[in-house]
Amino acid sequence: MILSLSVPYLCILLIHRFVCIVASSIPPQQFLDLSGGPILRNATIADVSAIVDIVDAAFSPSAPTKYRYQFKDKYPQEHRRCMYEAYLEVFDPEYVYVQVIELPASSGRGDSKPVSVAAWVDGKKVPTSDMQGWNQWNSGSALSSKCTHKDENATRAADWQQKFAKEHNKYLNDVYGHNQFYLAVLATHPDFQGRGYGEQLVLSGIEMAPILDLDTVTLIATPVGEPVYFSLGFRPIANISITSVDEDMAFPFDVMVYP
Ligand SMILES: *[C@@H]1O[C@H](CO)[C@@H](O)[C@H](O)[C@H]1NC(C)=O
Ligand SMILES: *[C@@H]1O[C@H](CO)[C@@H](O)[C@H](O)[C@H]1NC(C)=O
Ligand SMILES: *[C@@H]1O[C@H](CO)[C@@H](O)[C@H](O)[C@H]1NC(C)=O
Repeated sequence: MILSLSVPYLCILLIHRFVCIVASSIPPQQFLDLSGGPILRNATIADVSAIVDIVDAAFSPSAPTKYRYQFKDKYPQEHRRCMYEAYLEVFDPEYVYVQVIELPASSGRGDSKPVSVAAWVDGKKVPTSDMQGWNQWNSGSALSSKCTHKDENATRAADWQQKFAKEHNKYLNDVYGHNQFYLAVLATHPDFQGRGYGEQLVLSGIEMAPILDLDTVTLIATPVGEPVYFSLGFRPIANISITSVDEDMAFPFDVMVYP
């Protein structure tokens, strides 16, 4: 019956189907053969480089990135290398679930490669002492000790980190504590935006949360991301604003929860 449907519908259905399949631990491979379309799967450490490409491309134009990584254009390789080291450090399979949407090789991008990524933190499993570590996903390269950070302005990075953590604690960690499934990063490569991949990854998280016995899905949205979350039923609980060191700029975010 499924096979008689049109191909785009089949792909969407299969992605959604896959999400359910992950929950019941049936290997997803059987769907790879059927669809030939986008695949939603768990990421491995081998995907980190591709994930850095996605996040870097997606967030480069954003105002906070330009502000914090003041010298990124001068040191683009350093920026990527720092992000790579930082993500390796927090790619902890114990409590961070990273999922990607991958297009098959036939989609015109050479080898099959992830084009969209979501990183989730399981509140139940994360040690309290590591709660701040979540921010390493948000803050990208800011925290890794394994690179020299020539790409960033250290004063701004430290200030940002402290202000962001304060808001994060106030509205999420102090309220939901270990009972939240926190979406630390959601990004789609700009060449592949507008196809619903981000929505599929968020839906996957919404379906995973109760399986992990977590009551609330939480996130801190950028203005660009906000409409996606609204459309999926998230509700805003606070508008926050991170100010620049010189207090001449303010970067807005929306703290949101589901349900
Ligand atoms: C994906 O990761 C989750 C969380 O670790 C796990 O429960 C699930 O079984 C994994 N799915 C597959 C297909 O490996
Ligand atoms: C880093 O940022 C601070 C605060 O905005 C600014 O005063 C300082 O000049 C910047 N450093 C450099 C090297 O531009
Ligand atoms: C956040 O600000 C928007 C307008 O910019 C408003 O519609 C929304 O209700 C605010 N959210 C909260 C939780 O105050």
